[in-house]
Amino acid sequence: MPDRLSSPVLQPTTLGGHALKNRIVMAPLTRSRSNDRGVPPKFAADYYGQRAGAGLIISEATNISPQAVGYALTPGIWSDEQVDAWRPTVQAVHDRGGLFFLQLWHTGRISHPDLQGGALPVAPSAIRPIGQAFTKDGMKDHVTPRALETDEIPPIVEDYRRAALNAKAAGFDGVEVHSANNYLLEQFVRDSTNKRSDCYGGSIENRLRFPLEAIDAVLSVWGPERVGVRLSPATTMPGETPLDSTVMETYGNYVDALSARGLLYIHDIEGVTQQTRDAPDVNFPALRKRFRGAYIANNQYTLDLAEEVLAKGDADLFSMGRPFIANPDLVDRLRTGAPLAEAPKQYWYGGGSVGYSDWPTM
Ligand SMILES: Cc1cc2nc3c(=O)[nH]c(=O)nc-3n(C[C@H](O)[C@H](O)[C@H](O)COP(=O)(O)O)c2cc1C
Repeated sequence: MPDRLSSPVLQPTTLGGHALKNRIVMAPLTRSRSNDRGVPPKFAADYYGQRAGAGLIISEATNISPQAVGYALTPGIWSDEQVDAWRPTVQAVHDRGGLFFLQLWHTGRISHPDLQGGALPVAPSAIRPIGQAFTKDGMKDHVTPRALETDEIPPIVEDYRRAALNAKAAGFDGVEVHSANNYLLEQFVRDSTNKRSDCYGGSIENRLRFPLEAIDAVLSVWGPERVGVRLSPATTMPGETPLDSTVMETYGNYVDALSARGLLYIHDIEGVTQQTRDAPDVNFPALRKRFRGAYIANNQYTLDLAEEVLAKGDADLFSMGRPFIANPDLVDRLRTGAPLAEAPKQYWYGGGSVGYSDWPTM
């Protein structure tokens, strides 16, 4: 087995003022093990605690409000019961010396009336996503969402603020605002999903207004040292969502605005999530150069690729998603060159502790 002990990716580093064990980040992974009230299970403490060898863990996407829900059995952070259930999980990560950020989520149009108490999902514009939603009764076709009224947007900003406060109450070390993967915030950013004519649509400045208001609400709670933002300018899933028509200009402006706020990091999905790193329309190193804080790179990373990209100076940290599912001790395995286990897809979403918190260490 190759000795990777000296890999620069696996050495201790810093992220802003935070000390990290290494440059490997556990990417957010929805695992759909919460109950109907969005309360995460007790065994989530085992699952996340087992993975505290990562330099930073970003939680599975967590709904900021009942309206934010777009997938069955995903956790929330709007109720006291949810906050209480998160606490022991955060504690388990801290007990093992880990750093743990909560990912804040609103799915917008990527939802279904079954998940909204019969109401239509909300979106910047009434454009139906292509594909199906994961409901309690299985997969169901997406519907045409309802366009938000202008005066419905400030209350959603307040939902972000309350979720940020609740994340603090649960003990998290910071939060990541989920502005990727074509959920609500990215639906506002892209001109393919935002056809509004009010102050939240049209120009790039207007399309960025709501995402930045949400981020500012979160910053008012946490300060810039503890807030990151996830971006995916080249990803078309879910919903078969077309890219923005001036993607580098739009996301360049977005990154500039995030940089001006002094945010801790941006977390970029390079290419199409899980599918390809090819992204002919997006120059990720150029986006990275516009941001003053740290850059977390994601999508199909291996240790070799991370070493290569780190040497070029094109990223600071590297998040891995799928490899963490079946390898709780992923960083130890990378260090020793031990083989990686692979989780059958049946364990990705739904179920109990089996295929979730019972993967052995090497
Ligand atoms: C089962 C599963 C669940 C995911 N859940 C989330 C999520 O909750 N939030 C998010 O931003 N990305 C999510 N992703 C995307 C991953 O964070 C990551 O971007 C993607 O898997 C590519 O990284 P990888 O090649 O290292 O797996 C998920 C991916 C998978 C496979």
